[in-house]
Amino acid sequence: MNSVIVGFGGALPKKCVKNTELPTNLNTSDEWISKRTGIKQRYLVENDETTSSLATIAANQALNFANMSPDDIELIIVGTTTGDYTFPATACLVQKNLKITNNSIAFDVSAACSGFLYALDIADSYIRSDKIKNALVIGADCFSKILDWNDRASCVLFGDGAGAVVIKGEENTNKGIKYCKIHSNGSFFDDLITTGGVATNRKAGVVTMNGKNVFKFAVEKFRDSLEQLLSDNNLTINDIDLIIPHQANIRIINALIDTMSINSDKVLITIDKHSNTSAATIPLAMNEIKDSLIGRGNVVLLSMGAGFTWGAALIEL
Ligand code: ACO
Repeated sequence: MNSVIVGFGGALPKKCVKNTELPTNLNTSDEWISKRTGIKQRYLVENDETTSSLATIAANQALNFANMSPDDIELIIVGTTTGDYTFPATACLVQKNLKITNNSIAFDVSAACSGFLYALDIADSYIRSDKIKNALVIGADCFSKILDWNDRASCVLFGDGAGAVVIKGEENTNKGIKYCKIHSNGSFFDDLITTGGVATNRKAGVVTMNGKNVFKFAVEKFRDSLEQLLSDNNLTINDIDLIIPHQANIRIINALIDTMSINSDKVLITIDKHSNTSAATIPLAMNEIKDSLIGRGNVVLLSMGAGFTWGAALIEL
């Protein structure tokens, strides 16, 4: 049994904020942000937009693309660290919003920017073990709610958004999720962390990070994960048709391109338009090119996030 990705969806908040439109008290510039990160703009939630509302729009789109109805779904996993509530899970809100009444499984996964890859791996395991046939896997975050809007070194990097895929168990196919390996190393927990939490000070806190350590670790783990994936699957870099890396910083992605001598046309970049939407960057990027993804060949997903968490997947669509 293979888990085949059959639907894609994405949602961004209505409000787009260009680098030049950021608050003047940040004392930043389009030139600094573009050169250091590749980011040109970000989308930020307003009023009634939340992680679950964006996730629901993305999920609906993915179901429509797959030509499936909400009640076909037996498992919903949302990778997020900015859920609407401490509990219940954002996945349960998505389930309610989609009017799913079949008592399907719904839960969130907390792996920061690696949340989508973690969720994909778990859903794939459910399908391979024949527990379910169809799943919705979502990456959704509203980091704007946990940014320190006075810290120019972190607040300019993130935006809000959601991406979703529908995966389906299919027999006798070479397509689907061929490989997924996820990792974490908690000894780096405080290099990228919020200043609060329910059991520490009852506050969500704001994002703080050691930008240089995050940068170095991401470069190293993107490369290690890709090398491991190639070796485990007896492939060379020339066998890969497309790489969709987590979009944290264009310089992290360019370092991967340089060290692995990758043709840059094979690497999908959306950071200029979306900024870093944490768990949403990979499924949002997939949604951007959904019409040309099917039949694309070997596609690699790469992630790295707080924890630290990281990993890679090989899929054929
Ligand atoms: N605008 C203008 N100046 C700024 C800004 C800003 N937004 N932010 C920092 N600066 C200043 C600093 O104050 C510093 O000034 P100083 O030299 O007078 O002290 C100068 O720019 C250089 O700062 P550095 O921190 O050395 O800049 P660096 O080149 O390391 O870039 C950055 C910082 C962009 C955060 C980089 O370290 C980075 O991208 N790290 C990865 C972090 C990341 O991507 N996090 C996302 C979440 S993690 C993930 O998704 C994997």
